[in-house]
Amino acid sequence: MTEAVWEEFPQIFKIDECETLQSEVLKNRTLIIAANRAPVTLVKNEDGEIEFQRGGGGLVTALLGLARYVNARWIGCSITEEDRQWREGIIPLENDEGEILVSFVSPDEESYTDYYNVIANPLLWFLQHSMWDFVRTPTFDARTWKAWHEGYVKVNRLFAEAIVRQIEAADKPPLVMLQDYHLYLVPRFIRETLGERKPYTLTHFVHIPWPGSEDWGMVPPAMRQAILQGLCSNDLLGFQTREDALNFIRTCESHLPDTEVNFTKGVITFHGHDTHVRDFPISIDVEALRELAATDEVAEYRRHFIERYGDRKLIVRVDRTEPSKNIVRGFAALNEMLELYPEHCGEVQFLALLVPSRMEVGEYQNYLDEIMAAAGRVNALHGDSTWEPVRVLVGEDYPRAVAAMQLYDILLVNSIADGMNLVAKEGPTVNLKDGVVILSERTGARQQLAPGALVISPCDIYATAEAMHRALIMPAEERRKRAEFLRRAVEAEDISVWLCWQLKTLAELGL
Ligand code: G6P
Repeated sequence: MTEAVWEEFPQIFKIDECETLQSEVLKNRTLIIAANRAPVTLVKNEDGEIEFQRGGGGLVTALLGLARYVNARWIGCSITEEDRQWREGIIPLENDEGEILVSFVSPDEESYTDYYNVIANPLLWFLQHSMWDFVRTPTFDARTWKAWHEGYVKVNRLFAEAIVRQIEAADKPPLVMLQDYHLYLVPRFIRETLGERKPYTLTHFVHIPWPGSEDWGMVPPAMRQAILQGLCSNDLLGFQTREDALNFIRTCESHLPDTEVNFTKGVITFHGHDTHVRDFPISIDVEALRELAATDEVAEYRRHFIERYGDRKLIVRVDRTEPSKNIVRGFAALNEMLELYPEHCGEVQFLALLVPSRMEVGEYQNYLDEIMAAAGRVNALHGDSTWEPVRVLVGEDYPRAVAAMQLYDILLVNSIADGMNLVAKEGPTVNLKDGVVILSERTGARQQLAPGALVISPCDIYATAEAMHRALIMPAEERRKRAEFLRRAVEAEDISVWLCWQLKTLAELGL
């Protein structure tokens, strides 16, 4: 570790600078956000009345925050029957944040399944998280192609149609902010429909990794070209890291005929249209998270954890039950650490807080079974009547996860690949114990956090075990310095910075 690591962090944007940017860039625009998930879902309460449930997470918070400055609308897929029936309407936001028009796209069930459960997850997700096993997967059979045409392409068209309607109705030049891998084809469909009829700006942010062009070479040409052409219809295209952005440019150079690429300027020209490619690392809403961490609900969970595990060193992980999170290798690393350093037996407690995810997709169901078996194996090998090394808590309970993150001695983030990994940013923001973060070098978060973390290669179980041991015996002063670095790195670039960089780039490019 060099001393430079501990230098002061410049605050990248001051809050008022950010606010000025938001109001200046947005005052003459109509903002249209589109993402697979809408910021709210509608549900019927016990009295049969419709209630809005706001989606959690920083993305919703950051993007809804823009509604204060601008006439905003958000297009997402319906999830509940109530979403479907409601179709479109204005939702007032809390705390004087204005209001937003939410509009649901409602594909029939089969198309949605093909789009979400066959193409977006697992096909694109597995490709972009390096989880294909090329000897066996993927296979593009008639079922896959049907899902492509009648699912992914169809739902992307529905999104494009809904956005075009909003663009046509807009009274100011629209700024369209598309989110993620569910909507790769949308920009092209919008341009094909609208042409030059009206000025508008298309931006797209890809939240997940963009792998090398060789991996995209395994996707049949018609599919990969449709995806690349879709993305090259944007004006500004954002990725989590510089490497993702460069990989995208390389992929276009290799696989999209008639493209000109400029790596230095980050521009791709396809059929006379320029797409500017940049990286905008996403982050968390530091203030909102700290407010939650200070609530009684979290305190109650904290007390419970201290009561049960207070005399042991806590290794915590918080993840969706997601193969790319590499949960099974995490348990294998604990097992190896206990074998290499038996002095930790009885002294540590691994707490895995897991949120079930995408259970309709077969790979995810199998993975949950593997997780439980792997945890059981470590417990059988090392546990006794007084100590069970691994505890797996399955269920969606964010306050409980925050309490666990406040108490970790080690936070394990060993993903095979991760666009960013926000747990790596949440943990140090709330942790009360100068805990050490073990961080996979294949997360986007390593771009900002590596100097303060213990960085590991995700398949290297031995290195992960050694990192656990090193963290457990690390001198207090080093722990303090590392934790301080991580905390300040996150504070300096929280979610508002992610948004401000994008708005600043749009302003600089005159888009
Ligand atoms: C993760 C990814 C996001 C993605 C989301 C979808 O959080 O980082 O990029 O949009 O999963 O999750 P869902 O539950 O909607 O399938």
